[in-house]
Amino acid sequence: MSILVTGGAGYIGSHAVRGLIDKGYDVVIVDNLETGYQKAIDPRARFYNGDIRNIGFLNDMFSKEDINGVIHFAANSLVGESMVNPLKYFDNNVHGTQVLLTAMLKSKIKHIVFSSTAATYGEPVRIPIDETHPTHPINPYGEAKLMMEKLIKWTSTAHDLTYVSLRYFNVAGAHPSGEIGESHNPETHLIPIILQVPLGKREKLSVFGDDYDTKDGTCIRDYIHIEDLVNAHIKALEYLIEGNTSDIFNLGSGDGYSIYEMLEAAKEVTAFDIPFEITARRAGDPAVLIASNQKAKDILGWSPKYTDVKDIIKSAWQFHKKFPDGFKE
Ligand code: UFG
Repeated sequence: MSILVTGGAGYIGSHAVRGLIDKGYDVVIVDNLETGYQKAIDPRARFYNGDIRNIGFLNDMFSKEDINGVIHFAANSLVGESMVNPLKYFDNNVHGTQVLLTAMLKSKIKHIVFSSTAATYGEPVRIPIDETHPTHPINPYGEAKLMMEKLIKWTSTAHDLTYVSLRYFNVAGAHPSGEIGESHNPETHLIPIILQVPLGKREKLSVFGDDYDTKDGTCIRDYIHIEDLVNAHIKALEYLIEGNTSDIFNLGSGDGYSIYEMLEAAKEVTAFDIPFEITARRAGDPAVLIASNQKAKDILGWSPKYTDVKDIIKSAWQFHKKFPDGFKE
């Protein structure tokens, strides 16, 4: 029995592959290497280089492997890009998921853990955000993820398939080995961008707005360590294999940090004075995003181990010092 990880060469997928293998699972990876990296692929997994929109490729892979469950990460994931190229997101993310589900049904695969996002909620109407919060995405990335959740839900209603959708808040940090970590090209995420300054790759951090209605005027986010996130996926998978019912869970630390707080923490971790400038707000940024993670704690028996944001930054720093240019190939 094996677990299929789609997008297993990407940031989150590659960490999940290691987490699964370290727990004794046999892992199969499907990735088209569009945004994933060959270097991030765990050599202990079996790798199929191909696209989830290719039904023939998927059917062939499923016929060769004995897959018990799927963890589905393969997707484009840049909010800004989705605003200028929405069809890319509806094609790769939504259509790709439809094809994956079709191939799963054909091969009678019964469980899927889906990589969703807090972007499904849109502008929050209350904080912390729990799973009953209304879902009104404000960008095609979030809209596509919500559509993927619904595709999975209705497929599950009609067929012998159970699912868990996990809505991530701000995922950060790296594997304790420092061998894999967050590497996007172009990079848009706060922690890797802050760390580019002490690495000499960037002169200063641009803080996107200091006039939000928050304690110091900068945006507040809920940062969750990649290892905690991966553990929740494994718990969700085991929850489904044990025969439990389909559900949706938030994954966040439950704590919020402002950009200034993140900057101070990064200064301490790196022992560098990191200069910054205030620039205009970035379109579509809510002032505050903080998860309620109570449901995942209660039902999955999960809780985050990284509770100090400095430890999250420390782990990212370890990776970025080793790979100052990321995984450029
Ligand atoms: N920020 C800066 N300067 C930068 C980069 C980011 O000030 O150079 C700020 C952003 O404005 C935001 C915060 O840092 O307030 C975090 O930004 P990120 O881009 O790191 O993360 P987001 O909160 O925008 O995005 C995350 C996930 C998305 C998901 C979204 C949900 O990365 O996948 O949360 O709203 F869609």
